[in-house]
Parts: sequence; structure tokens; C-alpha cells
Amino acid sequence: MSSLHLIETARELVADDKGLLAMDESTPTCDKRFAKFGIPQTEEARRAYRELIITTPELGESISGVVLYDETIRQHKRDGTPFLKIIAEAGIIPGIKVDAGAKAMAAHPGEKITEGLDGLRARLKEYAQMGARFAKWRAVITIGPGIPSRACVEANAQALARYAALCQEAGLVPIVEPEVLMDGNHPIERCLALTEEVLHMVFDELYSQQVMLEGLLLKPNMILPGLACPEQETVNEVADATVKCLLRAVPAAVPGIVFLSGGQSGELASARLNAMNLRFRGRLPWALAFSFARAIQQPALEIWQGDEAHVSAAQQALVHRARCNRAARRGEYDAAMERIRA
Ligand code: 13P
Repeated sequence: MSSLHLIETARELVADDKGLLAMDESTPTCDKRFAKFGIPQTEEARRAYRELIITTPELGESISGVVLYDETIRQHKRDGTPFLKIIAEAGIIPGIKVDAGAKAMAAHPGEKITEGLDGLRARLKEYAQMGARFAKWRAVITIGPGIPSRACVEANAQALARYAALCQEAGLVPIVEPEVLMDGNHPIERCLALTEEVLHMVFDELYSQQVMLEGLLLKPNMILPGLACPEQETVNEVADATVKCLLRAVPAAVPGIVFLSGGQSGELASARLNAMNLRFRGRLPWALAFSFARAIQQPALEIWQGDEAHVSAAQQALVHRARCNRAARRGEYDAAMERIRA
């Protein structure tokens, strides 16, 4: 597979002010979210929910790519049409989550290491044959007393780089996701310092393992105070801290940065992304886009509640969040966009 093809896909994923929709919740995570609303935790309910998402009218106007899960990439609409066909017809690029989850790290209480490298080459080959053009791997770093350890950050950075190299070999654009969690009572400065350190280690490993930066996307957390921190910075302060961190640590060769939402509300995630694009317009080497799961899906899931009669209303809520985030890429998002809808 030529490098040109990887570069083109990476650029396409952040072109035209669009972004990604992550719908790759593993079965346990998806079931947990369903359980909150009393939705049956069955393969059919998960299939119906994912059908709702990908058949949302006009989704492709704001969404360039969707991240699927192994169960989902093989599923069909109720009428028998493969999901991959629906996604292609919507002009959306299919991607696939390939990590096997963040597991407790031996000898490191409270810390996690992401598994999934064994057999990855064969799995990537199969997904590429099915039509996937990019992949995703999430590493999780927890802030707490005495953690993260250097061992945890290094091991996760190395796994991310090994995954990324295998993806590029298979012709898939790797989305490299080192997530520093927002849980905790730490101040924003701690998130900034730690995320900077994590990103330096990740790019060091990517360099060692000869991953081509032009053919990947970075999926980081925004720089935020801990959820339980008494001092919560403004939208503009978060935007400034996030861009400061990324300018220090992310090489200019990377075509795009697609943020995770990490548990922020849809409105806050849009407002913060908007502030970054508005305040730094024309001054950044990479596109600042999104790859949200909860910040796009949450209102739709709440409306759907597993009821066929609510599908259309849920789809409207979903496409609304997608449009808000496209507007945020242009620095044109405004809280008024939420009021008009309400
Ligand atoms: P959230 O936007 O809900 O954090 O999910 C993004 C994601 O893909 C996590 O891996």
C-alpha cells in the first residue's frame, strides 16, 4: 500500500470541516449505556441502535468517518443491507476499533494497559479487505495520587506505536488515542503537564517505530481541570491551554487532531472546539477536528430509549450535534444554535 494513499485518507478524514463519529463502544460499554435507560442489552438492540445512527439523514454532511466495532462492521440493516453499504452510500469512510480494551496493568494498581497486539496483523488485513480505511486504538492514562507511573505511560506509548506501524503496513490510517482521563480533583495545570509528557512519549515511540506522521491522526483529550476540581476554567482558558499543549508536543507533519469528548457535555465539547478554531484560526499546522462518541450520541440515545417510535427524533438530535461540531470547526458555533433547536 502506498504512503500516498494513507496521506490522502488522513486528509480526507479532516477535510471540509467535517469530523468523526465514534460508535465503537465495545459490547460491555454499549450494554452499560443501554442499561441506564432500561434498553435491552441484546445484540438486536445494539444492531437497531447502530442502524439508527448510520441511517440518520444528512449525517454525511458533517461526518467524514465512523469508527465501528467488530460486531457492528459485520451487521446489516433490518432489510438485509450491509451496514458498510449504507455508510458508503452516505459518503462516509468506515473505520474500526482494533484494541482489545484497557486492562489492569500488572504491578501497577489503579493503572491500565491496552491489550490487542497479538494477532493484530491478521485482523487488520481482514478489516482492510472488508473495506475499513482507518483504525483506532485507545490508551488510558489515569491521574491520581502517585500515578501515572512512567512505566504505564511508556508501555502504552509503545503499544500505540506498534499498533500504528501495523496499521500503516495494512494500508489503514491509525488513529492514535492516548486519553488522559478527566476524573479526579487535579487542577488544569496537572492535566497540561501530564498530557504534554504523554504526547512527547507517544511521538518519540512513533518516531522509533518509523510510523509516517503524515498518514495518521492524533486523538487526544482536551486540557481540562479534573471533574471534581473546585476551579473550573472558562471555555477560552481551556481552548488556550489545549492549543498550548498541542503546539509544544505535536509535530506539524500530523495532518489532523481529532479530539475525544471524554465525558464532557455535547454543548461544552462544541464550545471548546469552537473557541480553539476561532482564536487560533490560520495559525495552526494541523486541522483541529473531533472524533466524539458521547458528545454526539448522548442526546440521541436518551431520546431513543430503545423505542422504534423515537427513531426519527433521535436522528434529529444526532445530526444536530454533528452539525454543531462542524460549525465549531469553522469557529461558527454559537450557543444560540442550541436554543433554536430547543
Ligand atoms: P468519547 O467522545 O465518548 O470520549 O469517546 C471517544 C472515543 O472514541 C473513546 O475511545
